[in-house]
Amino acid sequence: MLVKDTITIERLQHIVKGRLSSKRFAHTLGVVDMAKRLASHYGASVQQAEVAALLHDAMKESPLQEMQSLVKEAQIPVDSEMLKNGALLHGPAGAAYAKLILHIHDESICEAIRVHTLGSTHMSVLDKIIFLADYIEPNRDFPGVEELRALAFKDLNAAVIRAYDGTIRHLLDQGLSIHVDTIRGRNSVLLERSDV
Ligand SMILES: [Fe+2]
Ligand SMILES: [Fe+2]
Repeated sequence: MLVKDTITIERLQHIVKGRLSSKRFAHTLGVVDMAKRLASHYGASVQQAEVAALLHDAMKESPLQEMQSLVKEAQIPVDSEMLKNGALLHGPAGAAYAKLILHIHDESICEAIRVHTLGSTHMSVLDKIIFLADYIEPNRDFPGVEELRALAFKDLNAAVIRAYDGTIRHLLDQGLSIHVDTIRGRNSVLLERSDV
């Protein structure tokens, strides 16, 4: 079982709703919708996609200290840059929350939650689906989003690279640092494409 017998999708929805602002919960439901559609399109598990999408931002509005202690307890490796920044740590913290608090022991789900913000090298199809769904869910509105949504259903890797590009461009425009996992993640998808 992906989820403890006693926890249903409805129960998970209820738990996540109670942890998030209405705006972020609406975003979460948008990610669920997009992730399920992508999973079905690419022959991935729709159930895994639904659970991972539902939980991806479950820790995003929690205090940094809470994120830090959960990550430590779950022994999820993070670097000092992630540890002091909730915007980066909420992925690993979400994975820890899923594992420790909700008893979701499906590693694929926890990994997709862990890497949804920064990306990683060797992303699975599920990792890519959650990463991309977070970027293009129906509530997102930025120039080119419609084209990217269309591309997501034609060429998953090309769309993931575009999502990395958009994230990196945004960080550059804002004068912010770019985590090395994001650079490595983009490089690895580029390499995967050139291998084809
Ligand atoms: Fe997130
Ligand atoms: Fe998100």
